[in-house]
Amino acid sequence: MIEQVPGKVDMDKLVSLCKRRGFIFPSSEIYGGLSACYDYGPLGVELKNNVKKAWWKTVVQERDDMVGLDASILMHPQTWVASGHVEGFADPLVDCKQCRQRWRADQIKDGKCPTCGGELTEPRMFNLMFKTFVGPVEDEASVVYLRPETAQGIFVNFQNVLSSTRKKLPFGIAQMGKSFRNEITTGNFIFRMREFEQMEIEYFVKPGTDEGWFKQWVEARFNWYSDLGIKKENLRLRQHGKDELAHYARDCYDIEYLFPIGWSELEGIANRTDFDLKQHAKYSGKDLSYFDDETKEHFIPYVIEPSAGVDRSILAFLADSYDEEKDKEGLRVILRLHPALAPIKVAVLPLSRNEKLLPLSKEVYDSLRSCWMVQYDDAQSIGRRYRRQDEIGTPFCVTIDFQSLEDKQVTIRERDKMRQIRVPIEVLKPTLEAKLCGEPLDVLPPGGKKWLGFEAS
Ligand code: GAP
Repeated sequence: MIEQVPGKVDMDKLVSLCKRRGFIFPSSEIYGGLSACYDYGPLGVELKNNVKKAWWKTVVQERDDMVGLDASILMHPQTWVASGHVEGFADPLVDCKQCRQRWRADQIKDGKCPTCGGELTEPRMFNLMFKTFVGPVEDEASVVYLRPETAQGIFVNFQNVLSSTRKKLPFGIAQMGKSFRNEITTGNFIFRMREFEQMEIEYFVKPGTDEGWFKQWVEARFNWYSDLGIKKENLRLRQHGKDELAHYARDCYDIEYLFPIGWSELEGIANRTDFDLKQHAKYSGKDLSYFDDETKEHFIPYVIEPSAGVDRSILAFLADSYDEEKDKEGLRVILRLHPALAPIKVAVLPLSRNEKLLPLSKEVYDSLRSCWMVQYDDAQSIGRRYRRQDEIGTPFCVTIDFQSLEDKQVTIRERDKMRQIRVPIEVLKPTLEAKLCGEPLDVLPPGGKKWLGFEAS
């Protein structure tokens, strides 16, 4: 069952839009679905790729002190002993004696089953890691785990990256990829899944400089969400109390978002000290220290870890950008997604299906699709086609009409205020490029002219 904060976008509406327009489907739905697993459809995969691309651009491409990594999901089982996950990555589980439903004991308020009010068993610890086996023999010696976080792949590669890149402290390693947790309570759409994606950074620093770097990363990560369009009033920071800090953390902030289900964690930024590198050095017997050329000292670096969820970010971007406007034709549903995240950047729409418009329309379409994800749509009225693009967050529509055949000009219509400009086809591509990068619509390209929706100046 999905909970709902009054005044926020209705979660059911979001789920239904995602299904109807091909963003997100329940996993293996024809068999009744698999709880807490979801599939990204044609538009969802574009949105997801764009979220990951935007993260990579900010934390790797645009920084000198960061490099990337893509470690395997299956890792040596000792990894998880050293990290503390085999021992401690567990939640307290209770069963309802009446309806057999399972709950996390720390989420039960009155000691009774939330579904039927039945009596609950005593809590027992339940490890959240999925187990499987390598090789043909299914015995204890061949057990491996599906990683519950991507972070450990970074720690075990610390020396490999250091020696292959000759990076100096401070520097960080970024990685994104699938993680798996056998969560006890799920629901709330893609907020808590059993298979999900993370975008994680381990930023290695000299001990003593960790607090300064921690503050910088908290700020940088908060700004990433607001720079990509999330309203500041829907974001907040929450410092962990001493009693909730993970066993490895000295300090931790959550970036929280006001989801339709309430304020909840979007990303965690933790000061993990030297815990992980020390543990892996101890269990592997390898030297994971850093040699400082200047001071001639060996030491184990401290680590600042900004850890974000891809799926949770997608939910936040969708919830924050969802909007409805009443108009003459009924309801205009708009996803006001940042252009960098929008699955389709431009839609090419001939005014009608008249075959005279076809050659020029296809020519325009072909010239744009090598640059961006572009959709061609000539079915139904132009108004309906604009609505369809608004609902999936397409920032710009390009309309080809009969006058275009004469003057070789087309109309660009933007999503948010439905303003329009008319531009020569020869400057269409650079104009769209500039607008997608944030140039205001009223900055006109050579030969362009204001059309509809602008205030008279
Ligand atoms: N390496 C640290 C770590 O994994 P975490 O707080 O457990 O920390 C980091 O997870 C982020 O991963 C969360 O803020 C959330 O965005 C995402 N995440 C964690 N569990 C999730 C789940 N079951 N479903 C979806 N996203 C999840």
